[in-house]
Amino acid sequence: MTWLYCLSALVVLSTSFVIGKRYEPNWASIDSRPIPAWYDEGKLGIFIHFGVFSVPSVGFNSESEWFWNYWKNLKVPAYIDFMNKNYKPDFTYADFAKDFTAEFFDANKWANILNSSGADYIVFTSKHGEGYTNWPSNISFNWNSMAVGPKRDIVGELMEAIRGKTKLHFGLYHCLYEWLHPLYLRDKENNWQTRDFVTKKALPGLYEIVNTYKPDIVWSDGDYEAPDTYWNSTGFLAWLYNDSPVKDIVVTNDRWGIGANCTHGGVWTCRDRYLPGKLQTHKWVNAMTIDRQSWGYRRNADLSQYLSIEEILATFVQTVSCGGNMLMNVGPQKDGIIAPIFEERLGQLGQWLSVNGDAIRGTRPWTTQNDTLTPTVWYTKKASIIYAIVLNWPETDTLKLAAPVSSTSTRVALLGYTGGQFQYQNLPTGGIEIMIPPIAINKMPCQWAWVFTLTNLQNA
Ligand SMILES: *[C@@H]1O[C@H](CO)[C@@H](O)[C@H](O)[C@H]1NC(C)=O
Ligand SMILES: *[C@@H]1O[C@H](CO)[C@@H](O)[C@H](O)[C@H]1NC(C)=O
Ligand SMILES: *[C@@H]1O[C@H](CO)[C@@H](O)[C@H](O)[C@H]1NC(C)=O
Ligand SMILES: *[C@@H]1O[C@H](CO)[C@@H](O)[C@H](O)[C@H]1NC(C)=O
Ligand SMILES: *[C@@H]1O[C@H](CO)[C@@H](O)[C@H](O)[C@H]1NC(C)=O
Repeated sequence: MTWLYCLSALVVLSTSFVIGKRYEPNWASIDSRPIPAWYDEGKLGIFIHFGVFSVPSVGFNSESEWFWNYWKNLKVPAYIDFMNKNYKPDFTYADFAKDFTAEFFDANKWANILNSSGADYIVFTSKHGEGYTNWPSNISFNWNSMAVGPKRDIVGELMEAIRGKTKLHFGLYHCLYEWLHPLYLRDKENNWQTRDFVTKKALPGLYEIVNTYKPDIVWSDGDYEAPDTYWNSTGFLAWLYNDSPVKDIVVTNDRWGIGANCTHGGVWTCRDRYLPGKLQTHKWVNAMTIDRQSWGYRRNADLSQYLSIEEILATFVQTVSCGGNMLMNVGPQKDGIIAPIFEERLGQLGQWLSVNGDAIRGTRPWTTQNDTLTPTVWYTKKASIIYAIVLNWPETDTLKLAAPVSSTSTRVALLGYTGGQFQYQNLPTGGIEIMIPPIAINKMPCQWAWVFTLTNLQNA
């Protein structure tokens, strides 16, 4: 017993000696932390925006989760008109909260739907710019999901279901700022020289979710208005990386104050729907939405405003080929239902990954991203295999690729296809030409974005 105890204490000591580097509260030190390896393996996360904004759930050529800000701060006419036409004059934004009923919110059902996408993690809005918390926060007495609306701990129920039923990592989004919080407005008026909102509200809430729910991802939103020194972002991150319950596993992003995005922190989100089209040197993420205009649910979205599975796959493949992860957003309804259009897109992506996952999971970027002869072909690499992901099926009986240099033992196959290997020949200008045999449509391995595996290339 004693001996075992000593042994395990030793192991703990030596482990923390190796990985126990302490980070200082400055960007040079914070930025030196490697991104935990799990994050780069899976490539796909699902983002979920849910809150009081899910009640009005409208956006007029803009996102629905900014409703309060557009209506009361920025005074956008479309939002003012909407309120004048449909609500009594004294109706306040807070009045929406009692209709945030979530009566069909079933965390197990969400877990199944989210998992069906083949993703590796989710990121859920614990609190957006409206300040309403989806957990029973001790710092938000009457503006949280236990006090008004669902009367439930939405974050807690979702965490239990995700961790209990799936292998997905559980991440939380947290908005630093709150557009209309009186302390925030006062600090803003004082040109960020006072920090009452930070010390009394923003940071205590952030520490609370990390300590209570131990998220694998802390996805901060705050590349807006105030500098990172106002938020004490490096102070919080030093605690997160050194002493928090998730210090070794947690992944963060870059939205920790004006100008921090695309420069500091963990994974770079840069701007919304970031899709640079070129290989990036720092790990990055494309945070994008299935509803082209909005993160929160939008009742007034029509079908054409939802991305098709072909568009989603084109974005995903390009993102992964250039070294990024994709974080794809769905906005559930105020009653807790994930609309069938979102459910279908998630399931389609999962179906595609069940055939083509080898070309995505655990891959690294290759030296070439998209091909010069057929620019809609994007490459990834794993060990010595190069994957050529073809967004459009060839219209002729050959596919010409400039990047691959064949060797005498190069083999070409179609992922998920059981009809054998494909013939190819070298092109006089370099590259290869793959012969595409006629394939019955019901023998095709998938319906969108096909993957050729190229083994034993000279330049793999
Ligand atoms: C989650 O999805 C994966 C496929 O991506 C599947 O293998 C697994 O069984 C699913 N888990 C649950 C609990 O449905
Ligand atoms: C809120 O405070 C109570 C009492 O101090 C404590 O039991 C609870 O864990 C706290 N909740 C959170 C989310 O920190
Ligand atoms: C910033 O955070 C660190 C770590 O929690 C703390 O020690 C420091 O006092 C904070 N600084 C300010 C100005 O709030
Ligand atoms: C940082 O975010 C702001 C606001 O979203 C955006 O305007 C800016 O382009 C971003 N910076 C970079 C380098 O992407
Ligand atoms: C792909 O490659 C072509 C030619 O090399 C290039 O012009 C194009 O901008 C690239 N990107 C996309 C998104 O097609």
